[in-house]
Amino acid sequence: MDCARHEMMVPVLFLVILQASTIYSGHSLQYYHTAVSAPGHGLPQYSSVGYVDGIQIKTYNSDTNRTVPVAQWMERLESDYWEGETENGKRAQAAYKINVMVAMDRYNQTGGFHSFQVMYGCELMDDGSTSGYWQYGYDGKDFLALDTERGVYYPLTDRAQRSAQRWNSPMVQAGERAKYYLQTECIKWLREYIEFGKEELDRRVPPEVKVSSQQSDGVSKLHCQVYGFYPRDVDVIWKRNGIEIPFDETKQVLPNTDGTYQITVTVEVLPDEREKYSCHVDHSSLNETLIVTWDNKEYITRHSYLIFAAVSLVFLFGHVVGMKMKCSGE
Ligand SMILES: *[C@@H]1O[C@H](CO)[C@@H](O)[C@H](O)[C@H]1NC(C)=O
Ligand SMILES: *[C@@H]1O[C@H](CO)[C@@H](O)[C@H](O)[C@H]1NC(C)=O
Ligand SMILES: *[C@@H]1O[C@H](CO)[C@@H](O)[C@H](O)[C@H]1NC(C)=O
Repeated sequence: MDCARHEMMVPVLFLVILQASTIYSGHSLQYYHTAVSAPGHGLPQYSSVGYVDGIQIKTYNSDTNRTVPVAQWMERLESDYWEGETENGKRAQAAYKINVMVAMDRYNQTGGFHSFQVMYGCELMDDGSTSGYWQYGYDGKDFLALDTERGVYYPLTDRAQRSAQRWNSPMVQAGERAKYYLQTECIKWLREYIEFGKEELDRRVPPEVKVSSQQSDGVSKLHCQVYGFYPRDVDVIWKRNGIEIPFDETKQVLPNTDGTYQITVTVEVLPDEREKYSCHVDHSSLNETLIVTWDNKEYITRHSYLIFAAVSLVFLFGHVVGMKMKCSGE
C-alpha cells in the first residue's frame, strides 16, 4: 500500500479534472502509468495501477515484472488473465522506456530525473452512456491529450507538437486506436470487473453528518463533516437562508481505511448568524437530501469546557501562589 501511495504522488496534479461536481451513478475504470528516466524518489522505473470506481484493483511494476491483484475480489479472475496482464505490463514497460527518452529529447535533455505519465479511462453510467479520456504528462506537466470525439491527439505544450504529429500520422494512428479502446475494450473490461466485484462495488453505505463550529483569530467557521459513506461520489453544499453558497475550492473526498469515504466542507460565517446556515448532503444511499444545521448545544458544551478550564487555572494559580507564600514564609 505504501508503495502504491508513492506511485500516486506524481499523478496527483492531474486528479482535479476527474472530480465530479455532482453525484452520479455509474462506474469507472482508470489507469495510471508512470515511467521515470532513472530509478529514484522511491519510484520503480515503470509502474501501472488500475482502478475501478477509484479503488485500486491491480498493479504492475518493473521491480517485480508481474501484474498482481490489489482488490481482494480481483483474485477471482483466473491465472490466464494474470499471465496476459503480466505480458501487457512488460510490453508497456518497454514502450514507456522509449516514451521517456523521446520526451527528454523534445526538451533537449540529456540526463537527470524525468517522469512520463499517462492516465486514461472510461466511465459507464447507469443510463448506459459512456465516456473516456486519455492524457499524457511529462515532469508533472500536461503534455498531450486525446480528442475522444475525433480520435486525434493534441499537444498541451509546444514541445509536444512533434509527438502529436507523429502519433496522429496515418502510419501510427495512435489516437484512433486509443478512441477505439476507450469505446469498446475499456467498457467491456469495466463491465467484467464490476461483475466480479459487484458485492463490494454496488453496496450503499449512507453518510453520518455532523456540523460543528470553530472560532479562531476572530473568524467563525462552520464545518460540515460527512463520513463513513460508500460509494465515493457525494455532493455537499452549504446554504445560507436556503440559498446555496458558491464554493471555489475543490472539495476533497478522502478515503478511510475501512473502504468508506469522508469529506469536510467549511464556510466562514458571522458568529451571530450560525443558525442561518444548513449543510445539504446528497448521496446515492439516500432517498432524499440530508439537511443538517448547527446545533448550538455544541457551543454551550464548549463554553462549559472554557469555564472548567478557567476554574482549573484559578485553582492552579492559587495553588502556586499558596506554595510561593509558604516558601517565602520559611
Ligand atoms: C524485469 O524486466 C526487466 C526488463 O526486461 C529486466 O531487466 C529485469 O531484470 C526484470 N526484473 C525481474 C525482477 O525479473
Ligand atoms: C534544442 O536543440 C535543437 C537542436 O540543437 C535547437 O535547434 C533548439 O533550439 C533547442 N531547443 C531548446 C529549447 O533548447
Ligand atoms: C428509501 O426508500 C426505499 C423505498 O421507498 C425504502 O425501502 C427505504 O427504507 C428508504 N431508505 C431510507 C434511508 O429512507
